[in-house]
Amino acid sequence: MKGFDKLIAGGVPRGFFVAVVGEPGTGKTVFSIHFAWQGVLEGDKVVYVTTEESRESIIRQAAMFQMDFAGAVDRGKMIIIDALMRGRGDEWSLQELDIDELVQKVLEAKKRLGYGRARLIIDSMSAFWLDKPAMARKYSYMVKRILYKWDFTVYMVSQYAITTTQAFGWGVEHVADGIVRFRRYIRRGELKRYVLVEKMRQTPHSLVMHEIDIRDGEGMVVVRPARARREDTVLPREVTRRIIKGRIQEELASPESELESGDIGDDF
Ligand SMILES: Nc1ncnc2c1ncn2[C@@H]1O[C@H](COP(=O)(O)OP(=O)(O)OP(=O)(O)O)[C@@H](O)[C@H]1O
Ligand SMILES: [Mg+2]
Repeated sequence: MKGFDKLIAGGVPRGFFVAVVGEPGTGKTVFSIHFAWQGVLEGDKVVYVTTEESRESIIRQAAMFQMDFAGAVDRGKMIIIDALMRGRGDEWSLQELDIDELVQKVLEAKKRLGYGRARLIIDSMSAFWLDKPAMARKYSYMVKRILYKWDFTVYMVSQYAITTTQAFGWGVEHVADGIVRFRRYIRRGELKRYVLVEKMRQTPHSLVMHEIDIRDGEGMVVVRPARARREDTVLPREVTRRIIKGRIQEELASPESELESGDIGDDF
């Protein structure tokens, strides 16, 4: 994804287990799709587990950003494990939302793809502990421990559920080597999305939240640091002075109007 590697000093270290967290629609899946595609471009073996969307939906979403997932699957570079359309009976669908079955399938997929550096995306892990949130940490630890030996760098998506966090403590976050958090805010009636690297072990990563954009045909890009700088929004002093002067003259020229104060202020 354009601009992201700069935030983490070059890239996610090999073998890391990264938690990707955030509210609905903040870009976790799009971000994961970029990570998967980068793997294909670099010759990694890629396993993508999808629980919230079907395999076809992930392929369609990737295609909107010029990434040919279907082709990568055909060429044996990628396997998409479908955990939504369960029981279809095809080789790469899960029968149950069961953590042991998941791990087994991932290992089978890795064996099929062959030896070498691999990427795994689990989008999302939350599905596996929906009815037992207290298991979040145990499951994450188990997945990390088993997959570590298989040369996987892992992105594990997790929906941010405040209630779960309050009731059961942190799930994936402590187990993870890195945490990438997506956020959303409404600014002047418009949805803005942001990314913040909250943790990346052994990495001098950026501590600044950045605004991101998801663009048709292109995907996710880092736009700018979210830190509001005065010079981005405030006119230079001389320009402001001239505008005020002009307004005063205008007001004086029309006798029935009164001077309003504060109408050229900014909101910082
Ligand atoms: N082709 C596109 N062009 C522009 N924006 C798009 C395009 N496709 C998707 N998006 C944006 O991406 C958003 C979906 O992002 P994404 O699926 O990554 O969210 P998410 O964090 O995975 O959400 P959830 O937790 O619900 O799975 C859409 O709501 C839309 O705003
Ligand atoms: Mg998603």
